[in-house]
Amino acid sequence: MPSAVVVFDSWYGCTKAVAEEIARGLSADGRVATIVTNVKDTTAEHVRDHDVIVIGSPNHFGGPTPRVRDLVRRLRAFDLRGKRVAFFDTCFASDRGKAKGKLEAMLREQNPFLSPPFLGLSVTVEATRGPLMPGEMAKARELGGMIRSTLAIPA
Ligand SMILES: Cc1cc2nc3c(=O)[nH]c(=O)nc-3n(C[C@H](O)[C@H](O)[C@H](O)COP(=O)(O)O)c2cc1C
Repeated sequence: MPSAVVVFDSWYGCTKAVAEEIARGLSADGRVATIVTNVKDTTAEHVRDHDVIVIGSPNHFGGPTPRVRDLVRRLRAFDLRGKRVAFFDTCFASDRGKAKGKLEAMLREQNPFLSPPFLGLSVTVEATRGPLMPGEMAKARELGGMIRSTLAIPA
């Protein structure tokens, strides 16, 4: 059975909630073993063991948080060919995609064989502590389902 990890950093719970919803989408048919983990509780070595790697961060000052940056920097040391990698961020509408784009660029810099474009998502929040803008959570589950649909899973 393929396995997936959804890693998040989160100060106020929005990015965590999005991570959990992506995981629900990934595991919806019971054929992808999916775990959700706080970036504080994992390492690049653990993350790279999975077939699907999803990493999300709140946008802090225009980019991902230091912990998420650090994880992605460490992941660059590994050959990730064959993995499904996706990034997501939570942010204000004006900064949509910025943190996610920075994570994609960081990883691709040293993993040119990862096939772009990465699947990914930028989720907008109404204010610093949330909530998410209406309709955003549905996209998170959809992303999980889309990643699952790209996997060749034996019936
Ligand atoms: C220190 C700090 C800096 C932030 N800077 C930005 C920013 O530059 N751009 C932006 O869109 N959101 C910014 N935000 C708002 C975050 O995007 C928002 O708090 C986050 O999406 C909420 O996710 P969380 O509940 O998982 O922490 C900032 C928030 C904090 C706490």
